Amino acid sequence: MLPVMKIIHSIAEMQQAATAIKRTDRRLALVPTMGALHAGHAALMRRAAEGKAAVVVSIYVNPTQFGPQEDFNKYPRNLDQDAALCAGESVEIVFAPRDAEIYPTSNGVNTATAASTWVEELAIAKRFEGERRPGHFRGVCTVVAKLFNIVQPDVAAFGQKDFQQLAVVTRMVRDLCYPIEIIPVPTVREPDGLAMSSRNRYLNPTERAQATTLWKSLNAAKESFAKGEHNADQLQAVILRTMQLTQAIRLDYAEIADANTLEPITEARPGDVVLIAAYLGKTRLIDNVML
Ligand code: PAJ
Repeated sequence: MLPVMKIIHSIAEMQQAATAIKRTDRRLALVPTMGALHAGHAALMRRAAEGKAAVVVSIYVNPTQFGPQEDFNKYPRNLDQDAALCAGESVEIVFAPRDAEIYPTSNGVNTATAASTWVEELAIAKRFEGERRPGHFRGVCTVVAKLFNIVQPDVAAFGQKDFQQLAVVTRMVRDLCYPIEIIPVPTVREPDGLAMSSRNRYLNPTERAQATTLWKSLNAAKESFAKGEHNADQLQAVILRTMQLTQAIRLDYAEIADANTLEPITEARPGDVVLIAAYLGKTRLIDNVML
């Protein structure tokens, strides 16, 4: 019989529960999330559970990874619904820590100056999301490091949906000698190709229909690459042409990069990644595909 899923809010209790699991012969797997869970998160949980690992899902809307103009306040929060999804995926522990414990000096205020110790990756985080969202990856690395320190998992699952985040966290684990295996999980998509995202619920029906253009443009680039076009500028032009078919879309960036270093490249090779970010109304969506 499966154990009943626990919902834990305090760090001390989470540490005790993790210690108890680690005394058994089972691996401990962490799936860090910000909640508003969907089938993409569920895929991470299933992958994390492989080999009978005990799965801990953390749910925490991390204030320090949001910029001042971003959607921290309106980010969807619903612990009951999220816990129900986790229970359906045989998760053992939902760890939903409180702001006051994760950022003791911030009093729940989204201020990047309250804390004075940060974890920052300086190479992979530089471009793309890091460039458009200053401080974003510093917030991500800092909170993920805190979660790793609290839970001390053997493995942690991250989605390829947030390709740069996965690369940054993988590098952080290497640079800081965390004894943690990072499991990359392929992007889960809606039937029309739109990558599942907690932010998709901001889209109105018109925008939702238009959002498939992101996936279409990535596929157009991939097809063009398969037919022999390897020049990054040309591949980018293919994306721009596809994007222009949907006037309501405002492209933020479309770039081809090395999948490990995220350095932009001029001649694409198999295994490189195509990264895009675009606005539909006020909603910013990201997606990527590997060549
Ligand atoms: P969040 O956006 O909730 O995503 C949690 C995890 O789910 C990330 O690893 C993300 O890549 C993965 N994910 C989201 N949508 C997915 C999809 N359609 N298919 C596969 N995986 C998907 O990413 C964060 O939270 C935060 O930055 C976090 C790492 C929790 C740090 O605060």
